[in-house]
Amino acid sequence: MYIKKFLDLGMQPLANRYLTKKDILKKTQEIFYHLEVGFNIKTKLVSILKKIPSKIIFDDKYPYRSSMSRTMILSFKKLAKNIINNYNPNFILEIGSNDGALIRNFSKNKAICVEPCKNLAKITKRMGYKTYSNYWDIQLAKKIKSKTKNIDLIYSANTLSHINDTNSVFNSICHVLTDDGILIIEEPSFLECLKKVAYDQFYNEHVYVFSLSSIINLVKKFNLEVFDIEKINTHGGSLRYHIKRVSNNKFKIDNKVKIQLEQELKNGINKYSTYIKFKNKVINSKKKLKKIFLRLKKRNKKIIGYGATAKSSTVLNFCNIKNETLEYFLDTTPGKIGKYMPGTHIPIKGYNRSLLNEADYAFLGAWNLKEEIFKKERRYIKNGRKFITHVPVPKII
Ligand code: TYD
Repeated sequence: MYIKKFLDLGMQPLANRYLTKKDILKKTQEIFYHLEVGFNIKTKLVSILKKIPSKIIFDDKYPYRSSMSRTMILSFKKLAKNIINNYNPNFILEIGSNDGALIRNFSKNKAICVEPCKNLAKITKRMGYKTYSNYWDIQLAKKIKSKTKNIDLIYSANTLSHINDTNSVFNSICHVLTDDGILIIEEPSFLECLKKVAYDQFYNEHVYVFSLSSIINLVKKFNLEVFDIEKINTHGGSLRYHIKRVSNNKFKIDNKVKIQLEQELKNGINKYSTYIKFKNKVINSKKKLKKIFLRLKKRNKKIIGYGATAKSSTVLNFCNIKNETLEYFLDTTPGKIGKYMPGTHIPIKGYNRSLLNEADYAFLGAWNLKEEIFKKERRYIKNGRKFITHVPVPKII
């Protein structure tokens, strides 16, 4: 009733469901769903309208790996240091521990991992961490609490926004967290998404794109409050929320919280008209990007993709850019190499420099890792080769 639709990104496949050669040959039916995005005028929460059950998305073949970029590894390392310095927790629980990129910085007898994707859970188990390969819900929270009573720090990066039932998420967190415990959440920031016209933050897994305003509204129902935030550059601009129980007086609410809220209001994230303006920018972005590809193709330029991200699945399917235009993607993730992009069926090849050098232009699928990639590909750039980006406006760089 309070949710107002503002963006239609068309029919989309599951963004991390890369196809195998067998799928292509057998013409295996892909799951497509209508990707529409709405804004809740009461809670300020931005969400996709058609929510896909977690069990369909997060299975034992989930390809995403947190440790595939230096940017992410360094970000987790720095965070682990800060957690120890600021909170010195007795016991840490990570929800969505992926391949252990953060948890590896903590002692094995003081940390628990929760990771429903069995292929990933296997990695942290092998590293020696107690890992529950389950979805985060109250049953699991009760099971964990019955065994471990002193969890005073819960951390979750890029996971809570993937879970449809936000009440269940925070209820389960409150069940296991000690009274003076701290919850740290890290998620792409909607304000950054707005500023960068990063409509590719929307896909089936990103059920929600949070802002500080919406997080405050979400957690207050559970007597929780945000007392500090950090702006971080991961995933195209994220916010890290430090949250405590309202009853915990050990920490004061930092002024950064007030400043961010003011920024969000100033940028109109509480007004529906802002979302309509955003939609118009997205439509323009599509037109411009298609024009760039068309122009280069007319000049017989070879275009490839760099970073076969879930985000690029949204862009390419929305803009209807297929294999005839973008020949292949290069990526370093083992679970993606040799597969095909969902929907567009663009092949993904293992990264190697000579394949990159065959290209005249590379579409920057991993635009959020631009700095790291540009450093790595200094020579490609020096040789006059170019990248194409769609963020914040489509252009050749
Ligand atoms: P990510 O930015 O996390 O995007 P999403 O969440 O949208 O899938 O993924 C980055 C992708 O880029 C990942 O598949 C690894 C790839 N990558 C490379 O292939 N080479 C590189 O040098 C870097 C930094 C990333």
